[in-house]
Amino acid sequence: MNYLANENRYTEMPYNRTGRSGLKLPPISFGLWHNFGGVDVFENSRALARHAFDLGITHFDLANNYGPPTGSAEETFGQILKKDLLPYRDELIIATKAGYRMWDGPYGERGSRKSMLASLDQSLKRLGLDYVDIYYSHRFDTETPLEETMGALDQAVRQGKALYVGVSNYNAEQTEEAVRLLKNQGTPFIIHQVHYSMFERRLEQGLQELLAREGVGSIAYSPLARGLLTDRYLDNIPADSRAAGGSVFLRPEDITEEKIAKSRLLNKLAQERGQSLAQMALAWVLRKGHVTSALIGASKVKQLDDNIAALKQPNFTEEELNLIDQILAG
Ligand SMILES: NC(=O)c1ccc[n+]([C@@H]2O[C@H](COP(=O)([O-])OP(=O)(O)OC[C@H]3O[C@@H](n4cnc5c(N)ncnc54)[C@H](OP(=O)(O)O)[C@@H]3O)[C@@H](O)[C@H]2O)c1
Repeated sequence: MNYLANENRYTEMPYNRTGRSGLKLPPISFGLWHNFGGVDVFENSRALARHAFDLGITHFDLANNYGPPTGSAEETFGQILKKDLLPYRDELIIATKAGYRMWDGPYGERGSRKSMLASLDQSLKRLGLDYVDIYYSHRFDTETPLEETMGALDQAVRQGKALYVGVSNYNAEQTEEAVRLLKNQGTPFIIHQVHYSMFERRLEQGLQELLAREGVGSIAYSPLARGLLTDRYLDNIPADSRAAGGSVFLRPEDITEEKIAKSRLLNKLAQERGQSLAQMALAWVLRKGHVTSALIGASKVKQLDDNIAALKQPNFTEEELNLIDQILAG
């Protein structure tokens, strides 16, 4: 049977303006880094994408190398688009990136014009699309002049293959230079994708002010610290969790006693606020408009429901914020 999106998907979701651009994003966006690879169960990936859209989550984030194997998350999402979501293409913001290692040889990674533009063509093919909404430089490349990488982003827009561009994992100085170059070219640089959660606060050391000053939006990736800021690991490492699944980005040894002790204290505060720990962690990332959107992952549909409910309780008292800082400081 054909998929029909939930007709109430827009009734409750507030959308945030991305920097000073005209583009609005949902406060919670969905990333396909995990659970959409060729190794994953397609029907689960499909159910996740459909459910996210039914909840009003219009933004789906990919990269050339997401999988495993690399490229397969874009292929999976391409299949989901074909089966279910393409009739809604104009309601979707689809992002992809290039910069990390994708194919063999000197052009399969980093930020050269050759690599960035070839990778975008490959991504579009896997996704079955003519354009993506946002194209990112996934990381700063110390070997390529920034003019060249930013010129490639600009070219992607001028070719009609991307509507907007962004950078990810650039520090404040690198971002400032990117803003200067892209402004001069008239390129719609609207967003910075940045690692930000209660456990990772480097955004607050200068980058945040720069983005606000320059009118560039921000999207916080791994706002749940890959699951550490949820109830997932409070008692043990569940067999169906990311940490148990062999991900090199969350290994059992990353679930330290120190982190879990903090998560337990945060969980207690979340319960007092009438929230789950995941909900409080998302509300915290989004507090006072710190970021445009929180970019979550999920392995189960019920996690999406839990996370979206964070929007019902967005406010913190000064006392709660101070207590969170104290817990994090250990
Ligand atoms: N630009 C970059 O360099 C970069 C880097 C990393 C990520 N990203 C982007 O950010 C997205 C999100 O990253 P992430 O997956 O690390 O984000 P995250 O939201 O911090 O972690 C997601 C994981 O947390 C667990 N989880 C989520 N909601 C839960 C809930 N309500 N209750 C219990 N557990 C819950 C799930 O783990 P289980 O799988 O164990 O169930 C889920 O897979 C990626 O998909 C990608 O698009 C970008």
